[in-house]
Amino acid sequence: FRILLLNGPNLNMLGVREPTHYGSLSLAAIEADLQALANQHNVLLECFQANSEEKLIEKIHQSLQRTDFILINPAAYTHTSVALRDALLAVAIPFVEIHLSNIHKREPFRHHSYFSDVAQGVICGLGAAGYRYAFDFALEYLNSGTK
Ligand code: DQA
Repeated sequence: FRILLLNGPNLNMLGVREPTHYGSLSLAAIEADLQALANQHNVLLECFQANSEEKLIEKIHQSLQRTDFILINPAAYTHTSVALRDALLAVAIPFVEIHLSNIHKREPFRHHSYFSDVAQGVICGLGAAGYRYAFDFALEYLNSGTK
């Protein structure tokens, strides 16, 4: 299987950025952790982070017919981006939405997501481990042939 991990704006700053919300692991560490899991399970994992909506949208378009599942932390675009939502709907690749922090415990403007109602599922508030749980789900989903 081919899985694409997408991380949105400011997540390149993980480890440095507001550690009380986002923990102390860098994005590189999270990606390496997932890459190791992927290797164990014969999954081809591509990791991509961008700070701009355009780059993320382009990446999603390119993943058409090349990706079986998307794991995405849209970061601040969660709460703003109809365009990113539409890109995911356009390629119709199943995805899980991930947030390190529990967005429902935070400012009201973080409570709404443009992704949750079209995601297979949402993981939020479980820190970096959420990426692993999402990966596990993707594997089970793909192995069950639900696709
Ligand atoms: C986030 C939550 C968002 O509200 C925020 O803008 C982020 C990160 C998270 O992983 O908790 O950048 O998606």
